[in-house]
Amino acid sequence: MRYITTPIYYVNDVPHLGHAYTTIIADTMARFYRLQGHETKFLTGTDEHGQKIEQAAKERNSTPKEYTDKISAEFKKLWDELEINYDIYARTTDQTHIDFVQAMFLKMWQKGDIYKDQYEGHYCISCESFFTKSQLTNETCCPDCGKNTTLLKEESYFFKLSKYQDQILKWYEEKDPILPKNKKNELVNFIQNGLKDLSITRTSFDWGIKLPKEINDDKHIIYVWLDALFIYISSLKTQKEKFWPAHIHLVGKDILRFHAIYWPAFLMSVDLPLPKFIGAHGWWTKEGEKMSKSKGNVIKPKEIADTYGIEAFRYFLLREVPFGNDGDFSENMLINRINAELSNEFGNLLNRIIGMSQKYNNGIITQNKVLDLYKNELDEAMQYLKLAIDYLENLQCNRYLEEIFKALSVANLAISKYEPWNLIKENKHDEANALIGLCANILAKASILLSPALPNSCKKISQALNFEISTINYEKLIIHNELFDFKATACEVLFPKVEIKQEPKQEIKKEEKAKIKIEDFSKIEIKVATVLDCQNIEGSEKLLKFQLELENKEIRQVVSGIAKYYKASDLIGKQVCVLTNLKKAKIFGHESNGMILSAKYNDKLVLITPEQIIDNGALIG
Ligand code: MSP
Repeated sequence: MRYITTPIYYVNDVPHLGHAYTTIIADTMARFYRLQGHETKFLTGTDEHGQKIEQAAKERNSTPKEYTDKISAEFKKLWDELEINYDIYARTTDQTHIDFVQAMFLKMWQKGDIYKDQYEGHYCISCESFFTKSQLTNETCCPDCGKNTTLLKEESYFFKLSKYQDQILKWYEEKDPILPKNKKNELVNFIQNGLKDLSITRTSFDWGIKLPKEINDDKHIIYVWLDALFIYISSLKTQKEKFWPAHIHLVGKDILRFHAIYWPAFLMSVDLPLPKFIGAHGWWTKEGEKMSKSKGNVIKPKEIADTYGIEAFRYFLLREVPFGNDGDFSENMLINRINAELSNEFGNLLNRIIGMSQKYNNGIITQNKVLDLYKNELDEAMQYLKLAIDYLENLQCNRYLEEIFKALSVANLAISKYEPWNLIKENKHDEANALIGLCANILAKASILLSPALPNSCKKISQALNFEISTINYEKLIIHNELFDFKATACEVLFPKVEIKQEPKQEIKKEEKAKIKIEDFSKIEIKVATVLDCQNIEGSEKLLKFQLELENKEIRQVVSGIAKYYKASDLIGKQVCVLTNLKKAKIFGHESNGMILSAKYNDKLVLITPEQIIDNGALIG
């Protein structure tokens, strides 16, 4: 039995690349479990209560219910368009869920894990998360998303989270449930700093689940995270015992804390078993920058899938970044992967096999003599495929795909090395046919193992070679390393090559902007500074983090998007020009206090530096 979940998505906005990423990984895993023969349930859905949603509905002059119905349907439509094969589409506004959450709340209350008190502290509506003053950035901002927090002072029920501190740590120690494994330390540190009891009800708005009637306190509604997390169990309805505990909760790194600290504590309180794994992936940026509506750089999954195909899109997301790391989305990188990997190594191998087998043997492909003549190649390919399984079990999707493609390249290299067309000329028909048999078997094995990631393309391959993608054949071809005979029929080109997008060459435009007065210019403060230190920002191809020295040895941190044009270490000691009175910002999670000036030249950025070394802090004007 395997149960896998995505987070249930907030309906304050329409789905974007980040949501698609989590869902595509979960879909791949669910397909993999089914392929292995596990009875599998895959849940996704929407998180519809809370202050953020209530506000979003109000802004659109809608009732929360009308609004959530609309956006929840948009998420569902997208998953259907992307051919996500979920079993449960869960919504927190479903009555069965509401009843279940109230029952769980009552259970915690009866256990003595809930008490009433006064909450005083900060609340981030965007993250639906509580913070103490000392946790805030710049005294008022949320440490997770950077947005302004609200100061709350209201009566609240509290959950005794602190009571479960040691039990959670013990769970980490004994079961090692966090993936990737290196994320465990952050959580352990957080817990060891001391867990505070958690406010689990709110009174200042309405859109949420009421307390169980037994508690008889109508003012309060249940905290949206307590409500949302229980969806993982409530949605199983009559199959709770069969599928709970979950095998994997897949989440983004930003919500790991809720799943790896609050959730196990809630479960311990209601005496339910804990999930086996919680896998936290990284975040996607667009060309080095956080995606946001205001920047207009949000990637719409449907648009990319329509342009490049669903499977190329899935492949790129799964292949591009190691699980747990952040990734940067670029269409040209996606195109490169289509051309170099999907088209050259994968699709082309099928066409070579079909072409050769039809030419030399009427499409009949036999495994005869494969073991006698090409055992080394077969063993090498098998070794990669077995590794691929281990990687996927641990959510390392990029390594899983990498290994499968190594197996495919064994077949492609064998064709180049043994040149079957020459073998035929030399009348070595057995050798040529066995070579085709080797390649077809490698391709069939690889396709079975790739089918969770690329279901449609692999199906086309199985039809072209006339075998079935099934659990039985997974066991035969992969686990027991059997070899098959095939009959090849023509097939469309699987991944046609795509042309790289040429960025339009930038023309130097003359004086487009409106004239400003000298008073306007005098609002700008630009100074000379020396680069004391410069580092690449992990996970970003574009950003460098500078420590700059200004007058009186004042040090400033500035993040700048020039990593593609300069090596960080080459810039140390250089003088640069900095806009110093720009409002502070957080870029990729790093504070940036100013802007380093550069000019665009031939698609590059070139730093502006003083003509000779001058004092730090010298004003430019
Ligand atoms: N509703 C909560 C989850 C409750 S689960 C019981 C929530 N929803 S969310 O819509 O804000 O986020 C859902 C997921 O999308 C998170 O796992 C988050 O990490 C992921 N992503 C949102 N933006 C992302 C990127 N730019 N990149 C990758 N994933 C990101 O949190």
